[in-house]
Amino acid sequence: MSQQHSRRQFLFRSLGLSAGALMIPSVNLLARQKGQGTIPLIITSHSNETGRKAMEAGWEVLLGGGTAIDAVEKAANIIEVDPEDTSVGYGGLPNERGVVQLDASIMDGKTYNAGAVACLENIKTPSSVARLVMERTDHVLLVGQGALEFARAWGFPEENLLTGKAREIWLRWKENLSDQDDWGAPEHLIELQKEEAYWRDFPDIEHHYGTTNVLAVDAGGNVAGITTTSGLSFKLPGRVGDSPIIGAGLYVDNEVGAAGATGRGEDVIKSCASYYMVMRMSEGRSPQQACEDALQMIIRKYRKVNPDFFPSEKFVAINKQGEVGCAMMKGARIPLMSVMNEKGYSKYEGTVVVS
Ligand code: GLY
Repeated sequence: MSQQHSRRQFLFRSLGLSAGALMIPSVNLLARQKGQGTIPLIITSHSNETGRKAMEAGWEVLLGGGTAIDAVEKAANIIEVDPEDTSVGYGGLPNERGVVQLDASIMDGKTYNAGAVACLENIKTPSSVARLVMERTDHVLLVGQGALEFARAWGFPEENLLTGKAREIWLRWKENLSDQDDWGAPEHLIELQKEEAYWRDFPDIEHHYGTTNVLAVDAGGNVAGITTTSGLSFKLPGRVGDSPIIGAGLYVDNEVGAAGATGRGEDVIKSCASYYMVMRMSEGRSPQQACEDALQMIIRKYRKVNPDFFPSEKFVAINKQGEVGCAMMKGARIPLMSVMNEKGYSKYEGTVVVS
């Protein structure tokens, strides 16, 4: 048993938390408890500089009286085309064969309509293709070649999405994967190879299943959301995560709010986590409580079959009143998300449900 697991079990046992979860409050707990929300509002689970730029672009749409659906698309596109981001769109980490396959979904509360694409190759902005699936077809989800042909028909330019950075990360993964295959330096040169700049200066892989959620409420009170991702890195070709599955990686209800998920998609699909969060909000829970409720629900189910295994999701949610929430399954850091409303741009600090 790892040291981390021993410590975690100790915390659970000593606090008598047999089925629940340990809550670590964030520093802005007061702000959350006051539950002050304003609309219009736009948020993203990305808290980096690109997330900030995305919020500024989405906010411009909302401030000009634009719709939530236009705002989330504009914001998501900015994150999708960032070549430095290895979790979303162009520059995303590829599947095990070195091919970038993207998943994305969009949902419009005003029309209660949704669209999605999965395993889409060569198109930088899968959320915009998902929007066309929603608005220009009677379907919800297109996958693989069919999604690509649909995007082509709408004139999306085709490009190789594998950046140099993503390719090198993939190659390093391949070379480290097995000492039984022929990828990597000959055995007698392995020690020498570690001295080379290619290995020495190589950036660590930040995440294996990063994603972004963008959720918004416009001035008219309409709610919309997007979830977009390159999915689990080095996945089996054809693997579809939670992001394009309505109810799993994204859900929007115009009477309630919206929720989205990042993290390991398999757990999110099995728990219908975004739908669950929106349902919790419809029962009167705040967005923050709904995120925590969903994580606790998943932990409870996993602990029944393996007390030592904890999934690793991060959830975000907003309600129609403009309140926000964010919580993460576990981790050393407080989860952050970007928020833009009449008060300007801020980073919202969520909670860690299990340390
Ligand atoms: N949440 C992204 C994925 O698992 O594909």
